[in-house]
Amino acid sequence: MNLEKIYKSKIITAKQAAVKIKSGDRVVIGHAVGEPTAVIDAMVANCNDYENVEIVHMVAMSKSEYAQPGMESHFRHNSLFVGGSTREAVSSGRADFTPCYFSEVPSLFKEELPIDVALIQVTSPDEHGFCSYGVSNDYTKPAAECAKLVIAEVNNKMPRTMGDCFIHVSNIDYIVEFDHQVIELNPPKIGDIEKAIGEHCASLVEDGSTLQLGIGAIPDAVLLFLKQKKNLGIHSEMISDGVVELVEAGVITGKSKTIHSGKIIVTFLMGTQRLYDFVNNNPMVEMYPVDYVNDPIVIMKNTKMISINSCVQVDLMGQVASESIGLKQISGVGGQVDFVRGSNMCPDGKSIMAMSSTAARGKISKIVPFLDEGSAVTTGRNDVNYIVTEYGIAKLKGKNLKNRGRALINISHPNFRPSLIKEWEKRFNAKF
Ligand code: COA
Repeated sequence: MNLEKIYKSKIITAKQAAVKIKSGDRVVIGHAVGEPTAVIDAMVANCNDYENVEIVHMVAMSKSEYAQPGMESHFRHNSLFVGGSTREAVSSGRADFTPCYFSEVPSLFKEELPIDVALIQVTSPDEHGFCSYGVSNDYTKPAAECAKLVIAEVNNKMPRTMGDCFIHVSNIDYIVEFDHQVIELNPPKIGDIEKAIGEHCASLVEDGSTLQLGIGAIPDAVLLFLKQKKNLGIHSEMISDGVVELVEAGVITGKSKTIHSGKIIVTFLMGTQRLYDFVNNNPMVEMYPVDYVNDPIVIMKNTKMISINSCVQVDLMGQVASESIGLKQISGVGGQVDFVRGSNMCPDGKSIMAMSSTAARGKISKIVPFLDEGSAVTTGRNDVNYIVTEYGIAKLKGKNLKNRGRALINISHPNFRPSLIKEWEKRFNAKF
């Protein structure tokens, strides 16, 4: 097989690639910072040639122009996780939202949402013809494996990540060469509240634990307080820059892991160039599709698995809302429940939900008697274990409703405790 000849025969321009998409197609876009931006821009520029193209995407990191006003007759965005650039489109009805666990997205593509076109971004091929999916393996690899047509942007600045993370050039239909800086996610600002939450969460982490951390200031704050721990491991949906520091400090070694010993297991990456340089050709980091990494049955094979995720409201029974405020969809379940369940089932595992005690600059309590009307319950009260705020830790598993309410009120913001206690006393006909 003359790989060079095969590769060259598939090269087209982004504009030519956009023409391969037809009206009525279902198009899946490579996830998060793995979005193939040149082909998407060409598709948007070519919009007048399409009617009713369905664009399926999860965490969208670019402008999502296909979901902006004026695009309705050309594109219909089907979001699996609403983000900053798609929130307004979903709440105004211009785009749709489909609830689903992240671990189940590959099976959706196989069974419920067959794909016409997968638009992906990969590295250039190695000497054997294999391109790495780089920063986004997750649903991107499974989508490319079941799509009728695969269009790949080949980016020489994409880090070459390892694991089950490759597509052979013979399985790509068209190639668009486009070298560009992979989208960066700058580290969030960590304030005193996040630090207090981080310190409480870190107190629950024993040496030898394996961690899953979400995105944002709270997970990054947790990492700040892990510097004295020993032999931590990572089995996480994603990692960001904070993990690099702990690997370099010798805290994350993966030596105590019971599966994939010595390896960092992830399905996607989002960070700065520092993270992308760290993962490039690094055999310590292995990327697998999301139906493996986020499968609760795989997660539970670790010991001392600790999941740390965030939410927007918790009611006095311990029901957790993480993805909507009332009927307004603000994100999605992502991998939250996959990891809550996996860590709960794992020997000595702990699932932690960490949040600031208030929102809207202290005006709203996140611990509430009832979730806002219309809010989706993301993590149910039967799954929830630890809730952490800047005021401390509430362990809910094994506690009756009365004691759950007590534990939650004790970590709520002091300004809201009197009204929460009043509700608790009315509900349980007892003295707090
Ligand atoms: N009532 C009203 N508004 C609230 C609120 C509440 N109880 N809680 C949060 N908000 C608002 C905030 O003020 C903020 O608004 P702004 O964007 O206008 O400033 C917005 O909602 C987001 O809240 P914030 O606490 O800043 O969110 P975050 O960036 O820390 O993310 C989640 C928190 C819950 C949205 C996010 O962690 C998530 O989507 N989780 C589910 C997915 C998941 O866990 N995946 C697994 C790991 S990747």
